[in-house]
Amino acid sequence: MGKTFQSVRGMRDLLPDEARRTRWVERRAQSVLASFGYDEIRLPLLESTEVFSRSVGESTDIVEKEMYTLEDRDGGSITLRPEGTASCIRACLEHGLIHNQPQRLWYAGPMFRYERPQKGRYRQFDQIGAEAFGMAGPDVDAELLQLGDHLFRDLGVRAAVRLEINTLGSSADRTAYREALVDFLTPLRERLDADSQRRLERNPMRILDSKNPETQALLKGAPSVSDFIDNESRAHYEGLKSLLTALEIDFVENPRLVRGLDYYTHTVFEWVTDALGAQGAICAGGRYDGLIEQLGGKPTPGAGFAIGLDRLVLLVEHAANVAVPGGLDGYCVVLEERFTADAMRLVDVLRQAGLNIRLHAGGGKIKAQMKRADASGARFAIILGEEEIARNSATVKWLREDVPQETLGRGDLVARLKG
Ligand code: HAM
Repeated sequence: MGKTFQSVRGMRDLLPDEARRTRWVERRAQSVLASFGYDEIRLPLLESTEVFSRSVGESTDIVEKEMYTLEDRDGGSITLRPEGTASCIRACLEHGLIHNQPQRLWYAGPMFRYERPQKGRYRQFDQIGAEAFGMAGPDVDAELLQLGDHLFRDLGVRAAVRLEINTLGSSADRTAYREALVDFLTPLRERLDADSQRRLERNPMRILDSKNPETQALLKGAPSVSDFIDNESRAHYEGLKSLLTALEIDFVENPRLVRGLDYYTHTVFEWVTDALGAQGAICAGGRYDGLIEQLGGKPTPGAGFAIGLDRLVLLVEHAANVAVPGGLDGYCVVLEERFTADAMRLVDVLRQAGLNIRLHAGGGKIKAQMKRADASGARFAIILGEEEIARNSATVKWLREDVPQETLGRGDLVARLKG
């Protein structure tokens, strides 16, 4: 036997059970997005590296050490997208989609980050993202959260997630806060963990996110973003909170929530679960009013989120009490080779009626075929033999219930199998 191979570290195969669950969650998400009036946009996996370095931020973990960047054959630098917001804006600007008009878009697909793999954290992972352009008010922020709330209810996981929100103020507020934070932390530098020391110069607000308990203890006396935000930002935030309250969407204010990407202003949020261990953020986003200009467009407000599909699927598996549809309904056994065409015709009628039917292929004894039927997970087996074909009927054996098999005329078959 020759050499065998393994997948690249952090890049998983989704085996049929998980793939089916993933497909189902994806479809629910897409139908909720459509019901909110969001249109799909499909974006390439590769972009010019600068699309991300200029948006996500030069000194963020993503740009500093997590991007899969390669030299194209013509010498240009290209990057496998680590996120979708920057790509989406690039596309909107390129095609004039947000020229003097609001736009609500969604996208889905794999993203790539060179992170340390663990449960819920992969180097290739899937996101479903939504972006709303050209609307500056808190109404759109609330809509994005209503969308999440709606989807999580739909999937039966709403009770397993909590919504955390914060405001970072305008970019001027952020700069002032950043300075105050550096002033506060610099004298404490030696007592910070190594990562936080490194971040002190490059990206000090990320220190607020540190998981190190000593660093967290030092941060107790740190200045809070909320002391630095101006009246306009405050009004925006209050507007959002009162909409959420009116919509009865529960939320928790977390003044330490800062996000790992640089482009946020005003509202930031995360939907978090405790059910999956360390990788608890299921969906995250916020407002990015300066980003479109930063990527070469006219000043245009924007807000959005991305769902981590891998994590949401894990949560659905873990917390939701729902049956995932899309599995096999029936398995058709073929008693003799000469019945094959009849069997193929019959199962296709059942498929047209919406049932998922697998046809036994490759011959074999009935016992072996029934074993396959059982192992397939199907609810029933269909047996076609001489008599059934002569009488235009089929025999149905229920595989998961202790009831006798029955022979039904073709007219009654569909109704019985779907019931
Ligand atoms: P993000 O917080 O970097 O934001 O990612 C959003 C979500 O993607 C996370 O909450 C998590 O569920 C999932 N995710 C991130 N990294 C991984 C990973 N290595 N493995 C598995 N899942 C992961 C963004 O990407 C922004 N573009 C969101 C956004 C859209 N903001 C505004 N619009």
